[in-house]
Amino acid sequence: MLLHNARVATMTGAGAYGLIDRGAMVVEGQRLVWVGAAADLPSDYSALPATDLQGRLVTPAPIDCHTHLVFGGNRAREFEMRLEGASYEEIARSGGGIVSTVRATRQASEDELLAEALTRVDALIAEGVATIEVKSGYGLDHETELRMLRVARRIASERPVAVTTTFLGAHAVPPEYLGRDDAYIDEVCIPTLRAAHDAGLVDAVDGFCEGIAFQPAQIARVFDVARALDLPVKLHAEQLSDLGGAELAASYGALSADHIEYLGETGVAAMARAGTVAVLLPGAFYTLRETRLPPIAALRRHRVPMALATDANPGSSPLTSLLLAMNMGCTLFRMTPQEALAGVTVHAAKALGMADRGRIAPGLRADLAVWDVAHPAELAYRMGFNPLYKRYFGGRA
Ligand code: NIG
Ligand code: FE
Repeated sequence: MLLHNARVATMTGAGAYGLIDRGAMVVEGQRLVWVGAAADLPSDYSALPATDLQGRLVTPAPIDCHTHLVFGGNRAREFEMRLEGASYEEIARSGGGIVSTVRATRQASEDELLAEALTRVDALIAEGVATIEVKSGYGLDHETELRMLRVARRIASERPVAVTTTFLGAHAVPPEYLGRDDAYIDEVCIPTLRAAHDAGLVDAVDGFCEGIAFQPAQIARVFDVARALDLPVKLHAEQLSDLGGAELAASYGALSADHIEYLGETGVAAMARAGTVAVLLPGAFYTLRETRLPPIAALRRHRVPMALATDANPGSSPLTSLLLAMNMGCTLFRMTPQEALAGVTVHAAKALGMADRGRIAPGLRADLAVWDVAHPAELAYRMGFNPLYKRYFGGRA
């Protein structure tokens, strides 16, 4: 199939957006086989069935590389409490927060969790998203953690989207282990990780390194098991304070360190050395009315790739729009529109360790988004507006 008469933001090469003004793409099966200026199209491709994109912009299909979109219930009451003056940490310490979602998730059946998750997945797909990372971490017991991961896997058979799963057993201490966090790590988190891995349910391992969650030494014990199982790691690090989480993650060759508002220069340098991606989550920054900005200038200086994601979750980021995350990345974090688009394409793919997507180039998956806009900066510029015209997932419209 030939797609022509398009402006193609390939997100490759050195130029802005890797833009090809009068571009064409040839798709064979699930893959791109040729990308370039229409004038250079080899003649053997010119007889292929063609789709005229009428000058529209084509980008790699967006990738949401950090979500918690499988969960039970919601936290609208907690939203009210914060507006009445309680902080995220106070609510967490008084048995609300993540633990209240754990209660609701444990009570929900697999089918109920799936049905609710699909409403959020559909919102992402409507903006062209083709790959979604989904974390566990609202079960915090053997049975519910595995249920969440099975639901995450099922999403990919219910919808035209790729799902990568992340085990987040070290997300919070469940009520039955209150004050015994080390015992939780050893008796529940690690054995559950092994079982979930045996069941083929885990693509990566994450943790929440924070005063209200786990200490670096506890995260390290989980990461040691991940390493033994040959699973990549990533970490919720430096979201509310600096515990050296990003540096710890980098020492394990982490795919990414996420949030990182409180990250300092040494942590940034460690990430640069390890090739760890910075996943920035402006939806959580916005919802929690955080005032400390992630160290964007240092990340640029050290050439740490920056990704952007929704962090879709019921507490700190009830956000299911990656376009809005791009807008927030620009307006709140002062990223450029080009950095924002790279953040949901090429750098999001890197944050997931997926080399076969996130750019438009021969050999890569034909996951494409076609937009009714003239210039890529428009994607991050507008708020609450979805200019998606068409989406291709593995070459299929
Ligand atoms: O990414 N920081 C930890 N985990 C989630 C929040 C989870 C929740 O509040 O339910 C996050 O912000
Ligand atoms: Fe998160």
